[in-house]
Amino acid sequence: MIQKSPLEMTLHHLRLLHQNHAELAAFCPFPDDVKRQELIPYHIPAADIFQNQVGLQPSNYPELRDALIALSPDMLWRETYKDTNIAADFMERFGCYEIIGRDAPYASAKMRSFLVFQPPHLHYPWHHHPADEIYVVVAGEAEFHLDGRPSETLTTGQAAFHPSNAPHALTSHDHPVLAYVVWRDEFETGPVWSESEKN
Ligand SMILES: [Fe+2]
Repeated sequence: MIQKSPLEMTLHHLRLLHQNHAELAAFCPFPDDVKRQELIPYHIPAADIFQNQVGLQPSNYPELRDALIALSPDMLWRETYKDTNIAADFMERFGCYEIIGRDAPYASAKMRSFLVFQPPHLHYPWHHHPADEIYVVVAGEAEFHLDGRPSETLTTGQAAFHPSNAPHALTSHDHPVLAYVVWRDEFETGPVWSESEKN
């Protein structure tokens, strides 16, 4: 039997997720133009926290979760909010890398997707972006906030939809959270902090 690499495992399980998760399938089919591309890894402290995180459960997708962890040393970890007024603790502990898209091991012209990881007791402040977005919780749980709606705690298998430019935020409490995040439509423009977070 040929052993799949963590990258191949990830792609395999993401394709299954897109096919089998009703809200994700409705949001965006798995792209049919995915191509492998070269990537120069970039490491941040959150990558180590993610590697060593215990308690990333429950998970309906343990193989995907483990593949995403195995992959993480070779990914380009993002520093989206580096030159903004965000607290050092957030920069140290918030983790995000792209899986399908521009700074990712797989290219597609149809969507972008990311891993988002938060250890326990971290608040990802209000932000927004032009792309429509869906979060699917892979493991753990967190409290999801969307402007104008009551906050809700989501666990593995549950999804949150964030419409274009709607401010949203994410708070982990006693558990870490690992989520798969997909952007559709205007996905070349990155997120910015929402008005309420500015000085
Ligand atoms: Fe977002």
